[in-house]
Amino acid sequence: MNQLTAFVQSSVGKKIFMSLTGLFLCSFLLVHLVGNLTLLKNDGGAAFDAYSHFMSTNGAIRVLEVGLVLGFLVHICAGLLVWWQNRQARPTKYETYRLKDTTPWASRNTIVTGSIVLIFLVVHLQTFVGGLRFTENPPSAYALVASAFSSGWYSAFYVVALVLLGYHLRHGFQAAFQTLGLRNKRYGGLLDAIGVLFWLIVPIGFAILPVYFYFFHNVSDATMALGGI
Ligand code: HEM
Repeated sequence: MNQLTAFVQSSVGKKIFMSLTGLFLCSFLLVHLVGNLTLLKNDGGAAFDAYSHFMSTNGAIRVLEVGLVLGFLVHICAGLLVWWQNRQARPTKYETYRLKDTTPWASRNTIVTGSIVLIFLVVHLQTFVGGLRFTENPPSAYALVASAFSSGWYSAFYVVALVLLGYHLRHGFQAAFQTLGLRNKRYGGLLDAIGVLFWLIVPIGFAILPVYFYFFHNVSDATMALGGI
């Protein structure tokens, strides 16, 4: 038990928790993106509504959701603690200056990008989970998405948050494999390629949705869909 406590309290232990939960959250992102891309199907939202209905009613998904919430909590707590420990052991001004020269922006600002992604997540869950599950007469999921992204501000907020999510994942993905000791000469290239999928392709895939709905989706369609429920 003492060994476990010592492991959790150690910097390496926290980084391992952060890496494992981070990779788990990445797998959620991929599944969420694949489901969300059905929004682009020209079927009046039928495929997306079926996906959303399945996600909000299936028992197995309910259990996974508990894991998802725990994953987020552990990731955030471990991240904050590691950041705080590093801050306490902060190098001198001169060394900080040199760090800026050698370390990429994404690596120096994980706490900033992570915090903004967290704010994004709160707004996102309030709009969609709140709007679908905690509303008396919920609209269809498709209608809610179309209506939310008919706002320029809301869509722009998504695009900015997704750029920062990309930066967050760019550092996080590499750091996770480094921490887990899986980055070596043999697999380095492969991991970099998978990393690009997560930090570049996944955020672009999500960002296509607000852009598509704002610029190419008929606003009156969204209003009619909401009003028709
Ligand atoms: C930009 C495009 C996105 C769209 C259109 C979208 C849409 C949705 C919708 C409709 C739901 C509610 C599902 C339901 O309750 O049935 C949802 C839930 C959720 N979204 Fe997104 N999402 C997007 C991006 C993201 C991103 C980038 C993240 C993470 C950084 C994210 C994280 C979540 C989480 C954690 C949930 C709750 C999952 C659950 O309770 O099962 N979403 N999203």
